Amino acid sequence: MRVSLLALALPVASGAFQLPFKVPFFNSSGQQQPLRPTNTKPRIAIIGAGAGGSSAAWWISKAKERFGIDVEIDVYDKESYVGGRAQCAFLFSCSTAQATKSAYKGTTVYPYGNTSLPPVELGASIFVKVNKNMWRAVDEFNLTRRDFRENGGGLGIWDGEKLLFTSTGGWWGWWDSAKALLRYGFQSPRRTQAFVDRMTNKFLTLYSAESETPTWDNITHLSSSLSWSDLVSKTTSEYLKSEGVSDKFIAELVEASTRVNYGQNADEIHALEGACSLAPTGASAVEGGNFQIFEQFLNRSSANLYLNTSVTSINPASKGQWVVESARGAETYTAVILAAPYHSTNIEVPAEISAQVPPQPYVHLHVTLFTTTLSSIPPESFSLPASTTIPPMLLTTFEGARNGGKEPEFNSMSYHGLISEGEWVVKIFSKKRISQKWLSKMFDGQVGWIYRKEWDAYPVLPPTSSFPNIKLAPGFYYVNSFEPFISTMETETLASRNIVDLLLNEKFNSGICGPQGTPRNDTKKEDYVYGWDC
Ligand SMILES: Cc1cc2nc3c(=O)[nH]c(=O)nc-3n(C[C@H](O)[C@H](O)[C@H](O)COP(=O)(O)OP(=O)(O)OC[C@H]3O[C@@H](n4cnc5c(N)ncnc54)[C@H](O)[C@@H]3O)c2cc1C
Ligand SMILES: *[C@@H]1O[C@H](CO)[C@@H](O)[C@H](O)[C@H]1NC(C)=O
Ligand SMILES: *[C@@H]1O[C@H](CO)[C@@H](O)[C@H](O)[C@H]1NC(C)=O
Ligand SMILES: *[C@@H]1O[C@H](CO)[C@@H](O)[C@H](O)[C@H]1NC(C)=O
Ligand SMILES: *[C@@H]1O[C@H](CO)[C@@H](O)[C@H](O)[C@H]1NC(C)=O
Ligand SMILES: *[C@@H]1O[C@H](CO)[C@@H](O)[C@H](O)[C@H]1NC(C)=O
Ligand SMILES: *[C@@H]1O[C@H](CO)[C@@H](O)[C@H](O)[C@H]1NC(C)=O
Ligand SMILES: *[C@@H]1O[C@H](CO)[C@@H](O)[C@H](O)[C@H]1NC(C)=O
Repeated sequence: MRVSLLALALPVASGAFQLPFKVPFFNSSGQQQPLRPTNTKPRIAIIGAGAGGSSAAWWISKAKERFGIDVEIDVYDKESYVGGRAQCAFLFSCSTAQATKSAYKGTTVYPYGNTSLPPVELGASIFVKVNKNMWRAVDEFNLTRRDFRENGGGLGIWDGEKLLFTSTGGWWGWWDSAKALLRYGFQSPRRTQAFVDRMTNKFLTLYSAESETPTWDNITHLSSSLSWSDLVSKTTSEYLKSEGVSDKFIAELVEASTRVNYGQNADEIHALEGACSLAPTGASAVEGGNFQIFEQFLNRSSANLYLNTSVTSINPASKGQWVVESARGAETYTAVILAAPYHSTNIEVPAEISAQVPPQPYVHLHVTLFTTTLSSIPPESFSLPASTTIPPMLLTTFEGARNGGKEPEFNSMSYHGLISEGEWVVKIFSKKRISQKWLSKMFDGQVGWIYRKEWDAYPVLPPTSSFPNIKLAPGFYYVNSFEPFISTMETETLASRNIVDLLLNEKFNSGICGPQGTPRNDTKKEDYVYGWDC
């Protein structure tokens, strides 16, 4: 569940355009390749083939196609697959061994490692209609979107000792459920919804056809121009309280969503990301995995893709160029786009550059998948009356622990359907490792296959008033500077669109839609999306 801003009923453009795509050069051998002869053609290096890096290649290719900017693009990723955290988030199977087996077909987890069983594709990763780049990409690339519904059986909120709230409507039905109104009243849900709506409307201006190009060179300034300074400088709890939302509503439904989406409590995470995690309607995922969008970005961008190629250093060369060192050797570039969380890359850069990227802790998330023959968690496991039905999607709040109670052992626990008659797959997100002993106790010994994965999933997002720099040096840009502001697949594609505009302006006196002042042609288009349309 993620940036599930209220979907607007916008018709989806269907016309695919003609692009002079070159079949890209996929080479994942990772072997040392001969240095190219120095040529004069400008070259851009992109480090990271996740949402940010793959879309950066795509945006550059749009400018090439429109204005004939002659530039070569090299994309590096240390892993042997495209998609970064998005692929992992979706399929939870980023081990090299598995990815190698089916590179480009996407990787899936087979319960019990048995390939005759249906592969488990667990949709942690969703996007919504206001995520216009993701939405548009699915249409343009002829991928299939599916409604993302965890299950129809409802949700519950667990505080570690009590089941506080249950709804049969499922996550996307709670806003107007009679039960919610009864427990939380009318005002709190309405005010929260208004808060999410306001944020969404501002968010949509980032795609707009207005004369002012939506580019920014400073996230602090972007934040204030969107009137979000107040949101990012307060916790979600503080902000919603000041809007007159009740403590109970914040502690239960709001905190359940910040915990499932970002592994953080409502009194820890800033209110902009809090708004992003409130999830009313329209969640979608790409059939077969969202990472296919990122594969297509690369496939259609004429970029050279170097998988399994870790970048080890980036250093200045003569004439303002940059030398990127990797298993391929040292290559010289006009510009570099770093599209990975800097502190996790182990890339050596000059001190003037590293000094500009403040330490950024990430939430370390444990994902546990397992199968069970129980169709729901036995209420006795939670010391609840035998008549209680535990809903298939269990979210949590920290409120019990805040008041001296016990903290839930997990952030969320949800059923994801059957793998065979009478055997279900369940997924747990947690801060700590979930032991087999605990699972066995909770599920009455009825636990089959278990699969674990750990991620540095998303930044720790406390209230703040400053953000990392986007441009770290001339010709050196940092996509993931956006993550402490908002961290999602969609916003990484927005951050890279902005960076490509800045970079093209710096080096080629152009932008994705041409030099500043170039008349826009498509602004009358229904569902105009800046960058896809000009
Ligand atoms: C469990 C989980 C659930 C999530 N759920 C959602 C969701 O529902 N919706 C949503 O929108 N977002 C979700 N997210 C967040 C989302 O996945 C990320 O915000 C987004 O994918 C980040 O994209 P990125 O390209 O910026 O970074 P990444 O995807 O991290 O890509 C960075 C890439 O750089 C590569 N790299 C790193 N170092 C080097 C090096 N030295 N040399 C070469 N390559 C290098 C990495 O291998 C990686 O592929 C989730 C994340 C996780 C982990
Ligand atoms: C990745 O590189 C390593 C070391 O160079 C090599 O052993 C491995 O086979 C490569 N994997 C792929 C998928 O190319
Ligand atoms: C990939 O790299 C290897 C090692 O340099 C090379 O032999 C091979 O020809 C390359 N593949 C392509 C498609 O160029
Ligand atoms: C794999 O699953 C199939 C289908 O359920 C089953 O018939 C087969 O016995 C399983 N194989 C193994 C090795 O368990
Ligand atoms: C998209 O898919 C449809 C149905 O599979 C097919 O008819 C159509 O030609 C495809 N369009 C493009 C642009 O690939
Ligand atoms: C961004 O703006 C803030 C506030 O005006 C300022 O303190 C900061 O230095 C700016 N960053 C850059 C890189 O200009
Ligand atoms: C990339 O495009 C080529 C040519 O259209 C196609 O053969 C190949 O399967 C595509 N790869 C992916 C990963 O979509
Ligand atoms: C707008 O249309 C004109 C004429 O067809 C074309 O020359 C120009 O490149 C277009 N501009 C953009 C931004 O696509």
